[in-house]
Amino acid sequence: MNNWILEYFGMDGANEGLREALCTLGNGQIATRGAAEESFADGIHYPGTYLAGGYNRLKSEVSGKVIENEDLVNWPNWLCLTFKVEDDDNWFDLSQKKVLFYKQKLDIKHGLLIREMRFSDNKDRETSIISTRFVSMNDQHMAAIRWEFKAINWSGNIVIRTSLDGNIKNEGVKRYQKLNNEHLNIIDLGQFEKDNIYLLVQTNQSRIYMAQASSCQVFQDNEKVNFQYEIDKIKGKISQNIYLNVTQAKETIIEKTVAIYSSKDMAISEPLVEAKNSISKSETFNDLKKKHQYSWNVLWDRFDFYFSDPGNTILLLHLHIFHLLQTCSPHTIGKDVGVPARGLHGEAYRGHIFWDELFIFPLLNFLLPDLTQSLLKYRFHRLDAAKRLAIKEGLQGAMYPWQSGSNGREESQVLHLNPNSGKWGPDNTYLQRHVNLAIAYNIWQYYEVTGNIPFMKVYGAEMLLEISKFFSSICTWNSHKERYEILKVVGPDEFHTSYPDSEEPGINNNAYTNYMASWLFTKAIKILKLIGNARRAELLQKLDLNEKTISKWDEISHKLFIPFMENGIIAQFEGYEKLKEFDWNGYRKKYKNIQRLDRILNAENDSVNNYKASKQADVLMLFYLFSSEELVESFGKLGYDFTPNHIPNNINYYIPRTSDGSTLSRIVRSWVEARSKREHSWYFFHEALMSDFKDVQGGTTAEGIHLGSMASTVDIIQRCYTGLVTRNDVLWLNPSFPKEIDSMDLTLYYRGLWLKIFFRPNECKIEASDGALQPITIGFKDEKILLKPGDTIIIPIHR
Ligand code: BGC
Repeated sequence: MNNWILEYFGMDGANEGLREALCTLGNGQIATRGAAEESFADGIHYPGTYLAGGYNRLKSEVSGKVIENEDLVNWPNWLCLTFKVEDDDNWFDLSQKKVLFYKQKLDIKHGLLIREMRFSDNKDRETSIISTRFVSMNDQHMAAIRWEFKAINWSGNIVIRTSLDGNIKNEGVKRYQKLNNEHLNIIDLGQFEKDNIYLLVQTNQSRIYMAQASSCQVFQDNEKVNFQYEIDKIKGKISQNIYLNVTQAKETIIEKTVAIYSSKDMAISEPLVEAKNSISKSETFNDLKKKHQYSWNVLWDRFDFYFSDPGNTILLLHLHIFHLLQTCSPHTIGKDVGVPARGLHGEAYRGHIFWDELFIFPLLNFLLPDLTQSLLKYRFHRLDAAKRLAIKEGLQGAMYPWQSGSNGREESQVLHLNPNSGKWGPDNTYLQRHVNLAIAYNIWQYYEVTGNIPFMKVYGAEMLLEISKFFSSICTWNSHKERYEILKVVGPDEFHTSYPDSEEPGINNNAYTNYMASWLFTKAIKILKLIGNARRAELLQKLDLNEKTISKWDEISHKLFIPFMENGIIAQFEGYEKLKEFDWNGYRKKYKNIQRLDRILNAENDSVNNYKASKQADVLMLFYLFSSEELVESFGKLGYDFTPNHIPNNINYYIPRTSDGSTLSRIVRSWVEARSKREHSWYFFHEALMSDFKDVQGGTTAEGIHLGSMASTVDIIQRCYTGLVTRNDVLWLNPSFPKEIDSMDLTLYYRGLWLKIFFRPNECKIEASDGALQPITIGFKDEKILLKPGDTIIIPIHR
């Protein structure tokens, strides 16, 4: 088993979209789906190129209402490369040929997509093409394709056509196809420096320019060919037709190099100028490829790990790290972009940014903390927008939107199409105010790992305080309960958006939200101590806070209401216990896939709001984010008697009542059972690992990968099974591996030091890099050990 190669044999039209998503190549700046070079959007293939932060808004009319959506734009297709034999009328289309061999190979280690095909036409001419492409991880603006073309049993004249195609719409998600989807205006296209081509487009609302410039070189018998060509401009598409003669059994090499710039790039004059310059001075395919592979090697040195597990676990973990780094990479650092939940791999959820960061940043903190910092700044730069959203609701502080895109406006759709019934209905999931708590949690985690006080002083503290201000303004005092409450929200389980038969959106006292709000106030008070008196005074004044508000936060943090049922089982929200039990067995018999119960029940004129049925982990999120010690302490602070014994009661209660309609759900399942039922945890870990690879939701991966779930599978290995927790300036380790793993090697960053950790059955060895001024404290099980820069410690493990 090769842990780095994802291979597909034969053509498979039904799963082409899935392959395209999983074979996407990118570098954190741009990403291009693994569509065939010769293909176009035809219902089977869907070429797509996406730019980090490349959004555009369009208005559409739905059910008599004008709605506006912001989408991650599908930009011009730079892949276009095709051929025809001179006497043939049609351009190359594999579906019209007799396919003798087809293999598609994603080389994860080197960031290459390779397609090997052999086919014959209706005149029995047999041809083979090996196509290799990459999107450079070295130079964020460059991408290249190389074709090794061989006429196996014939000789003759062929035409190679290379194009840049601007006639592109956002058509990747069927549900959105009735909405307006033409985002691009063609500004210019043409030829430069004799035989190179270019295309300049601009989005019609956000006015982002993208320029693509391209050159094509041909080699025969190791010599560069001086070919005849023609330039063809048809409606937004520029093509170069190259005339060649091919000889039987001899190879013709065609190399297409493309430079892509946008007006969002830093340090540029104008995108087209830069794209043309890059092509003029561009290196050969092989030189570009060498540098690209070197950059991937550097990343793998850091992100790769080892553990002793047979099977394809490691291959899929590599695939997940690969897609994470293709969505956000060192090229992302310093840019004003966030991480779209579905990667830069498709158009699902319109490329919006949700709370999924909560499942991504903890992993990045330990491997590329500068990247987390940059992604947190995406939120910081939208603090004013979040404040405006709070004001609009009559609230204070910063209320970040559930779905975020370009400028921090709420991008959640107002209407949702139920594909089961074909009906549009209101979408109230925007009430997920807990997204703010995820941002706060991520800020705090980043701080715990890096100890970066300057970041906290300038960015982190202000966000934490503004979010606290917001939560303090939505907390209301209930004198009957003598508790603070948070009303009319939606929890992480998006199924429950209102009470049965209620017209009003929202549910009250979502336990997860309330618990996290209490946690938030505690951290906000702590951060005010950490940043020093001068900054504290500045921030209090800037945010119009005073000692009274701070002590009110402290009071709320002790008195938030958490609804409980019997046996320490936390009610997902107030009144949850009154809902009906759902007929899980009956519906599993009736429907093949009941993950999206909300749509199924809605199409039956029923509502999931009526039932104890969750889409994904909600209460269970608490056991995902916090250790039992932290939970017991925090519930104690809130005045609730919660013991570690109550945890399994909650897990056993909610797991059978969850449909796993989100890929994030399996992650939490695996995590929360890691200590008590290791074999369950391993099972769900594997299910999570398969989410995109097997497209377990039945069609959603083709529209974009599920980045939160991908990153967290790696995090389960990195933090969950190793018991890695950062708390109060200590890096705690408490390994508890499933039986399939008996040793593991990891690289981690913590507080200025790079650590190499080797877990073995009887010992754990930790080597610290040099380069930091301070020693760090490692906590192993219950013992604390000081580790100095450059030192190695070996801790015996008694089983
Ligand atoms: C999940 C959300 C998630 C979103 C984007 C939804 O299906 O319910 O929790 O944030 O997808 O991944």
